[in-house]
Amino acid sequence: SADVAADLSGVLHTEAEIRGRIAELCREIERDYEGRDLLLIGVLKGAVMVMADLSRELKRDVDMDWMAVSSYGAGTQSSGVVRIVKDLDTDLSGRNVLIVEDIVDSGLTLSWLRANLQTRGPASVEICALLRKPEAAKVEIDARYVGFEIPNEFVVGYGLDYAQRYRNLRDVAVLAPHIYS
Ligand code: PRP
Ligand code: MN
Ligand code: MG
Repeated sequence: SADVAADLSGVLHTEAEIRGRIAELCREIERDYEGRDLLLIGVLKGAVMVMADLSRELKRDVDMDWMAVSSYGAGTQSSGVVRIVKDLDTDLSGRNVLIVEDIVDSGLTLSWLRANLQTRGPASVEICALLRKPEAAKVEIDARYVGFEIPNEFVVGYGLDYAQRYRNLRDVAVLAPHIYS
């Protein structure tokens, strides 16, 4: 229904906590990339909120581009099959790329994406993910910037969806099991 409260079993990270953590990550990113160009690549659709807030919190010039890849479809489990729905418009040769993601779950999406971008001649490729689920890892992802490590529960909000819903919630919340079971 349009009332989402009954679909959630709790808030994991509030809007204020997320804002504070993103600010901390931005200070690290500003230091690490001082004197170098920076290209943020947001992974549609989940990374939209992180990309919007992170890019505006950075006190420096950045370029931004977007890729759409999909591995989940309508289910709750990653299939591991990644397909490019929309590719970049930007030539990566010599660029410092920072992939911006909402979550590292199994790690399959980012493992595939980093390898794909590395074939395009960038100077560097790093990863920034707001959330990581260590217990769900099927492949290890070396993400330089991670906002929060979270338990292995189905989370929605702040860009994260279940069957395309709940992306516009301001907090990161746990989806009540009755919704997906
Ligand atoms: C979700 C999420 C990450 C990926 C993480 O995207 O936004 O991109 O899954 O899962 P993994 O680590 O197990 O690969 P999804 O494929 O659901 O597309 P969306 O961003 O459009 O929701
Ligand atoms: Mn995604
Ligand atoms: Mg999704």
